Amino acid sequence: MSERMDEDYILTHLGEDPERHLGAVSTPVYQTASFTAGHEYEYSRGDNPNFDVIEKKIAALDRTERAVFTSCGVSAAFDVFSTVLKAGDHVVAVKSVYPGTRRLLNDAERFGITYTLVSCGDTDELFAAVRPNTKLIYLESPSSMVLELQDIGEIAREARRRGILTAIDNNCATPLFQKPADLGIDLTIYSATKYFGGHSDALGGFISGSGELIGKIRENRDLYGLNNSPANAWLIERGLKTLSLRLKRHGETALKLAEYLEKHPAIKEVNYPALKSFPQRDLYLKQMTGCGGLFSIKTVGTPEQNEKFVNGLRVFTRASSWGGHESLVYPFGAVKPFEKQISRDAFHGGVIRMFAGLEDADALLEDLENALKVFE
Ligand SMILES: Cc1ncc(COP(=O)(O)O)c(C=O)c1O
Repeated sequence: MSERMDEDYILTHLGEDPERHLGAVSTPVYQTASFTAGHEYEYSRGDNPNFDVIEKKIAALDRTERAVFTSCGVSAAFDVFSTVLKAGDHVVAVKSVYPGTRRLLNDAERFGITYTLVSCGDTDELFAAVRPNTKLIYLESPSSMVLELQDIGEIAREARRRGILTAIDNNCATPLFQKPADLGIDLTIYSATKYFGGHSDALGGFISGSGELIGKIRENRDLYGLNNSPANAWLIERGLKTLSLRLKRHGETALKLAEYLEKHPAIKEVNYPALKSFPQRDLYLKQMTGCGGLFSIKTVGTPEQNEKFVNGLRVFTRASSWGGHESLVYPFGAVKPFEKQISRDAFHGGVIRMFAGLEDADALLEDLENALKVFE
């Protein structure tokens, strides 16, 4: 079986078992808090057949021993931090990490955990920030705001040599376009709210890694109540079945839009790894096999013009999150004070994050063309 077919099999069939469910071809939703004594499952805070199916799929896609399903992407990161870190430990993370993760790291300082943020593409700067008490290196590649890459294999190798754990937020790439565990990363983290669910109607998260580490992370998920509902697990199982089709379409459309935007006089920066002009092109080709619908831009205009541009879009919806069927636009740092500050120190301001959904690419192009007139 080819690798591609193998992944399609994982997405559409692995972990499902109609024979166990009266022949049902779609896994039924086990919407129950507990199970009667003497059965395989006991209590849905810990375990449920709907969790099992998708955990098997994610572990197989990531080529890891085990995966665990959580209530959302942020709780997946929280589960990792609360399991592997203790007071006195230090974390090195990339500057352009998802703001929710950065807030978690900020908050961890209350519990005696410190962190240092480093530039995304600079492995030397990253290891220069390592201290004797550094326990974890936290990556996000591509990063979700400015799509910067880190050299995952190089960082994982050096971290392993020094006995430091590594974790990566692999949301942008998904396991279809990037396999962090193959490159030596210990823990891979996802927000299933994004591409896996794919329809903007369910929150979820995953962590995958070795059986030993995931075993501990799973115990904490159960203990702290970080798990999810059977209904959300079912929606995510359904979303996974079309993941490869959707990603292909998101990627084709995003490339078309990014190529248009990089030639437009009102645009001074387009961040999209699949562009031929992408500054980290070699690294992209080394560690990724494709890119989805997420990209970001900076314009030549004022904040007021940016605001008009964003509000002038008709097909793109102004909203946070991404990875669903709908095209989105999010002027990062335009409203929330915490994001304003991150926007200034991590991205020099003015990042407009865009997501190419499943609409017709020409309709999206026309929408951009019209809205960009505010810069004339
Ligand atoms: C890159 C990235 N990581 C993690 C998260 C957090 O996921 P969730 O919203 O499911 O908690 C998000 C959500 O926006 C994200 O964009």
